[in-house]
Amino acid sequence: MTLNAELAHRNKPVAVFDSGVGGISVLQHIHALLPHETLHYYADSKHAPYGSKTPAEIEARCFEIADFLIEQGAKVLVVACNTATAAAISAMRAKYTLPIFGMEPAVKPAAAASKNGIVGVLATTGTLKSAQFAGLLESYGRNVKVVTQACAGLVECVERGELHTQNTLKLVEQYCQPLLDEGADTIVLGCTHYPFVRPAIEQVLGNKVVLIDTGAAVATHLQKRLSALNLLSDSQAAGDVRFWTNSCAAEASQVIVQLWGANAEVTHV
Ligand code: DGL
Repeated sequence: MTLNAELAHRNKPVAVFDSGVGGISVLQHIHALLPHETLHYYADSKHAPYGSKTPAEIEARCFEIADFLIEQGAKVLVVACNTATAAAISAMRAKYTLPIFGMEPAVKPAAAASKNGIVGVLATTGTLKSAQFAGLLESYGRNVKVVTQACAGLVECVERGELHTQNTLKLVEQYCQPLLDEGADTIVLGCTHYPFVRPAIEQVLGNKVVLIDTGAAVATHLQKRLSALNLLSDSQAAGDVRFWTNSCAAEASQVIVQLWGANAEVTHV
């Protein structure tokens, strides 16, 4: 690459996607840490939730979205979804040449933070059933008791923008109580939708439980890697942020505005 082409490449977008709007919780951390980066976000809301899909179905969705984001000029891809990372990150890395970042439930930091050695993990069925998660438990869950809880229906609440309704609180209670009953003192938010219902989760758990979210760690890792690869934008201006959604719901843009802020620029695809 010539010097000019290299500079132009560095200023291309960091592209982020998820099964829906959940990955916006990761995008917030990326934007806070890397304010000069242009960010593209694709919400595959028409196909949410991924949690109940087969790995092959999720892989096909990831390929389609990656092709779209690469066409928009992505310099790197961030899979802001634990379920999609578990199902498809290896296949994506085999297929594409650009750097691809994924994420997994924060079992390692949770095991280190727990005082009583009992860690709870809230995640989707797909994540909890995956070989990747089994590997995580094998590597970091040996010296603690890990109690897992799949949270059917919670992703859909966030997709509808219902962050603190009676129905959401009821589901949160239903899923957190078993972890409390097992004595978990540290609980991992193992799905990127869940940080958006954190206030509801905190209301149920009280202040004695430590909650661990992976978004900040993903942003820090991304910053380090972009720097090492000489891919950090050299722009001094605030980076543009663009959203695409394929949701059929009339309120889809509204929900993105609710989660990101009034300045969200949303295109329906
Ligand atoms: N937000 C996703 C995750 O982190 C997936 C949720 C879903 O679509 O089931 O796992």
